[in-house]
Amino acid sequence: MCGIVGYIGKNKANQILINGLLKLEYRGYDSAGIAVIEDKNIICKKDIGRVSNLYKLEGINDLTGTIGIAHTRWATHGKPSKINAHPHLDAFNTFAVVHNGIIENYNELKEDLISKGYKFYTQTDSEVIPNLISYYYKEEKDLLKAVNRACKDLKGSYAIEVISKEEPDKIVVARKDSPMVIGIADDEKFIASDIPAVLEYTKDFYLLADGQFVELTRDSIKFYDENLNEVENKIETIEWSETASSKCGYEDYMLKEIYEQPKAIRETIGSRLNENEKCQFDDIEIDKEYLKSITQIRIVACGTAMYAGLVAKNTFEKLLSINTEVEVASEFRYRDPLIDQRTLAIFVSQSGETADTIAALKLAKKKGCKTISISNVLGSSITREADYTIYTHAGPEIAVASTKAYTSQVVLLELLAIYFAEVLEKDSEEVKTLKRDILELPKKVEDTFKVADEIKELAKQIYEQKDVFFIGRGIDYTTTREAALKLKEISYIHADAYQAGELKHGPIALIENGITVIGIISDKKLLKKSVSNLQEVITRGANVVVVTDKNLSKYNFKKVIKVPETNRLISPILTVIPLQLLAYYVAKEKKLDVDKPRNLAKSVTVE
Ligand code: F6R
Repeated sequence: MCGIVGYIGKNKANQILINGLLKLEYRGYDSAGIAVIEDKNIICKKDIGRVSNLYKLEGINDLTGTIGIAHTRWATHGKPSKINAHPHLDAFNTFAVVHNGIIENYNELKEDLISKGYKFYTQTDSEVIPNLISYYYKEEKDLLKAVNRACKDLKGSYAIEVISKEEPDKIVVARKDSPMVIGIADDEKFIASDIPAVLEYTKDFYLLADGQFVELTRDSIKFYDENLNEVENKIETIEWSETASSKCGYEDYMLKEIYEQPKAIRETIGSRLNENEKCQFDDIEIDKEYLKSITQIRIVACGTAMYAGLVAKNTFEKLLSINTEVEVASEFRYRDPLIDQRTLAIFVSQSGETADTIAALKLAKKKGCKTISISNVLGSSITREADYTIYTHAGPEIAVASTKAYTSQVVLLELLAIYFAEVLEKDSEEVKTLKRDILELPKKVEDTFKVADEIKELAKQIYEQKDVFFIGRGIDYTTTREAALKLKEISYIHADAYQAGELKHGPIALIENGITVIGIISDKKLLKKSVSNLQEVITRGANVVVVTDKNLSKYNFKKVIKVPETNRLISPILTVIPLQLLAYYVAKEKKLDVDKPRNLAKSVTVE
């Protein structure tokens, strides 16, 4: 959470920093700030609110410094306010720091520094960092060494950038459990917590390893390990185009990303799946013997990524006959789960930086499991921890609410299940059909967008509601959970997802005249059961909307949203699309900021 940008080069830093922050607002947007070095002084400008507020700050546009650091905040310690915004300076205004992550022992460090004469002005954990650096600098007289000593005292996670008027031609960067990349162009270096922030300037990046320190000057860049031994780092060229991280004429990133799903799915399929050929995964080495030896598969993730796992559970169990459980990472990591070397553990994370998912992965490794990470971000933290990584290739997802990453995660998990089935020589007719149906998906997703106008109308009817229920059975229940999450997070309408058959066991008491209940029906076997459950709520006054790929005309539902028919196992990819659009249009009706919903940030790097 929080976004970081830094610049060192020959151009004015202010515009580059603010530009970068604007692209990172999805990481946090309660306050923002920049600090540049000008005439060997640190000039810091910050304020509460959105990044664009920075433009209103007196003198910010006139800054001429060519070295600077910047931050957009998602508050953890200390409420959003100007004083709590980053950059933070030490008590003597000599060092400025921006920080992502959480310093768990900041109270002890603060007390110790206060006893040494340091004054504190904010409620943040981050403020201890510049003060610690200042303290060690007195002894070391070297910025890199002082930062390194300070980091040795920190418990928790951090990605930091440090500038100092003592060494005004330098930026020092360090990271632990929080991402950071450095982009390189002619005579210029761009630091960022996420690649899209500086993608317009370069495609060549160093991805920092955990525990790495970097010293940047205008004409040099040196990498060090945690004991300050110089280490090598290699440049990765990023394939994402700059337009991939801009709105391209769409009103919001979320809408753009919804409409990018056919492309994202095509990219996810890539060369992994071709008709009449075996599924290919060059990035993992998993053989028949190993797959025969495992007793269970665990898929662990958070939020939407976890729901992608729930969809795929059906396919793993169906094709492989291996028990597959899906779990929320924040529970899994503290639960002492029953897993061992006979468990294959799969971790799904769009950002690859979700703290709970990474911790869960570390736990699974400790318990002897083979681990696979699924991520959308090249070189992200999770990919460095897992035994194998496979990428969704969905392109950058900027909107906080996940859409294209979700459907790509489902597709990738489906492909993985097929791959395992083929390795196990369980390539049944079912596998063949599923392969063909996956290849047809991008076109069917395009066809699904035809419902957009209907959904816009529906949004106008429901945007003033306080509660919406989503119900479904089997695989459709999974989609109800994702749909409810989408509606909640961007439209702030309370939404609940229920197994249609469970309604009678309590929640039906909440059904009253005029309430909206959205039913999803794609499973033929469960169709009649689901229809009966919907009739039960209609009888109690609910306005029912059905999202289905079946012909339900004989049931006389007032509102049916029809999507193309596909294989039951992948039907959630199509049934979720009208509901992504519904969440989007409801939020638009309510005039909310769709891409940056309140209290949320794109990467949840704190637990
Ligand atoms: C909801 C959403 C979140 C994320 C979750 C995990 O729209 O985006 O629920 O899915 O925070 O994030 P990643 O996939 O980055 O680990």
